[in-house]
Amino acid sequence: MKKTKLLLMLTFCSSFLAIGQTKVPFIENLLAKMTIDEKIGQLNLVTPGGGIATGSVVSSNVEEKIKAAEVGGMFGISGPEKLKIAQDFAVKETRLKIPLFFGSDVIHGYKTTFPIPLGTASSWDMDLIKKMAQIAAQEATADGINWNFSPMVDVARDPRWGRIAEGAGEDPYLGSAIAKAMVQGYQGTDLTSKNTMIATIKHFALYGAAEAGRDYNSVDMSKIKMFNQYLPPYKAGIDAGAASIMTSFNDVDGIPASGNKWLLTDLLRKKWGFKGFVVSDYTSVNEMIAHGLGDLQDVSALSLKAGLDMDMVGEGFLTTLKKSLNEGRVTEEEITNACRRILEAKYKLGLFDDPYKYIDAKRPKKDILTKANKAFARDAAKRSFVLFKNHNNVLPLSKTANIALIGPLANNKNNMLGTWAPTGDPQLSTPVLEGFKSVAPKAKITYAKGANITDDAELAKKVNVFGTRVDIDKRSSQELLQEALDLAKTSDVVVAVVGEASEMSGEAASRTDISIPANQKKLIQALVKTGKPVVMVLMSGRPLTIEEEFNLPVSILQVWHPGIEAGNAIADVIFGDYNPSGKITATWPRNVGQIPIYHSIKNTGRPAPTEAFEKFKSNYLDVKNAPLLPFGYGLSYTSFAYENINLSKKEIEQGQDVTVSVTVKNTGNFDGEEVVQLYLRDVVRSITPPMRQLKGFKKVFLKKGESKTVELILTADDFKFYNSTLDFIAEPGDFEIFVGTNSNAQLKATLTLK
Ligand code: BGC
Repeated sequence: MKKTKLLLMLTFCSSFLAIGQTKVPFIENLLAKMTIDEKIGQLNLVTPGGGIATGSVVSSNVEEKIKAAEVGGMFGISGPEKLKIAQDFAVKETRLKIPLFFGSDVIHGYKTTFPIPLGTASSWDMDLIKKMAQIAAQEATADGINWNFSPMVDVARDPRWGRIAEGAGEDPYLGSAIAKAMVQGYQGTDLTSKNTMIATIKHFALYGAAEAGRDYNSVDMSKIKMFNQYLPPYKAGIDAGAASIMTSFNDVDGIPASGNKWLLTDLLRKKWGFKGFVVSDYTSVNEMIAHGLGDLQDVSALSLKAGLDMDMVGEGFLTTLKKSLNEGRVTEEEITNACRRILEAKYKLGLFDDPYKYIDAKRPKKDILTKANKAFARDAAKRSFVLFKNHNNVLPLSKTANIALIGPLANNKNNMLGTWAPTGDPQLSTPVLEGFKSVAPKAKITYAKGANITDDAELAKKVNVFGTRVDIDKRSSQELLQEALDLAKTSDVVVAVVGEASEMSGEAASRTDISIPANQKKLIQALVKTGKPVVMVLMSGRPLTIEEEFNLPVSILQVWHPGIEAGNAIADVIFGDYNPSGKITATWPRNVGQIPIYHSIKNTGRPAPTEAFEKFKSNYLDVKNAPLLPFGYGLSYTSFAYENINLSKKEIEQGQDVTVSVTVKNTGNFDGEEVVQLYLRDVVRSITPPMRQLKGFKKVFLKKGESKTVELILTADDFKFYNSTLDFIAEPGDFEIFVGTNSNAQLKATLTLK
């Protein structure tokens, strides 16, 4: 078809038809011309390798396949030059000239890498998160990407699971707000615009609940828990307009997600009204063979019939669907429906109008790694840090202090970006030492490594799959330690940058021991013994078990893996140019035995006593029930006091909102921000209620000495839950409302729903 004719048709269609609601004549017309092979080709997503591959296989003969109309989209390659070559194969060498779309995992920034998502979630700042997604979209589209495999919205309550790093943590309410902000940031209000891209909600569903925190493991969960605790963020992302969704590797109620009709059709399309397309995860269709569901033809047919539209890398669709059609195991209509959804996505992006619209050689230089983007990354990083302890108020440090900067992560570029940053370049990141020197040029700063990240060479090998993350020094542990102790002794204060290498968390990086590696623990203890004040700057992709270190006379600043501006952002906080305001979004356990652990627990019939152990109560012989750090926890260089909780109404009718107000005062010596949190308890209801659930938050800035009345609105939906027949309802009765600085908030008001 001539381009002018195409253009005319497009203008005609888009003037009165909304995609997904009514069929688009342009696409119907195209479908009518397509052979079965061409339709099946559109369902095939390939990655040519050469970049970062996240599975054990990559696609072969990609060029030939594109020319044979056997490819609908590609991922894992980027840059106008390469993508132009691939697009030329599709639009110049195939019969129907259907353009490809180009995907990528832009998880926390494209080349300007932001902190890991568990870190940015800790900012509780939705505008910040949305803006990060916008910047990621601006940079990725400049490199030709128009489809992003993000946001990852899996609720995770088991920090053994390495991918907890990639999401928002344990809570469905906060997770839903973040899902919405990210989708809006990536997609903007107009997907045809050159700096927006399709967002993908992943991994649908329940991937974060893998048994024992072992990646890819089975999930088994009641529908009540699913609907109330795990599904809300996926739904929020879809309600925000995400145009695609990715299935998960795990089974849901006994059927792997990629072949689960209840999940992909009954729930997703029929109940939730999803209009976009569903892509599998990397070879997850093929993996259903290992799950025990049949051979490649069986599982491919099962997936198509379940509602899967696109097959990532595995090529089960490409190689078996036609056979299944001939044998009557799938219908042509099922293939056409899947193909239609892929074509609609390309149409939404405007690719039929101009297949090269995202391919512009001038854009990368103009839009990627700009000064403004990097400045934003620095800001995002400092807002993601969480102050756990400030022993003797040693922080912030003076800019003229004599500092011994110690630790395997103190002068290190390879671990600053964090896991799942395949598009970033670790060598562009700022190490902590450099940041300190630049922010405090008058300070005396000496540096020593002190210890390896781990001395375990076997572990190092596993962690180094994407390049060196753990570098085992030629010097002995004793030499490393002695050098650090010598420096510590001549300093005023020690800053120890310790923790996990970036690939000790992330995909296929589950751990059963989530403490700081033994040799680093030894370093910390030895540094404390010098009698100098010690500030631990802790890097990790997950909550760690740090009770031992927490009980030492140290200060602790949790910085996750902070991204490209790591060193500068850490220095901003350590030297007080920014007062930390982050709050953890996943509970930090005392030990692994407490896992899974999260704030919205139920009371049980035998609630634990608050203090000592009691026989025949729900408690442990060897450890308290309370975590080391509760959900929502984080300190500031200043302090905040809460008083006067008030409700706009003490009684409400079904469907009504209520405004909760509280006075928050900055009672310390620094200006600062506080995340005001609201938790709700449904006192009596037909299914066991959690003790409290997050239902509101607001981040406020207060000058030293200032008081503010903060208002939080509880909407009618906030009182609702899914009951045993899975109806979303609110039941009449009393509700307790708690407002405060973390999930242990005590300031309380009571409300009655009539
Ligand atoms: C991951 C996905 C990712 C995909 C493509 C998989 O291994 O689970 O999150 O989007 O690879 O890179």
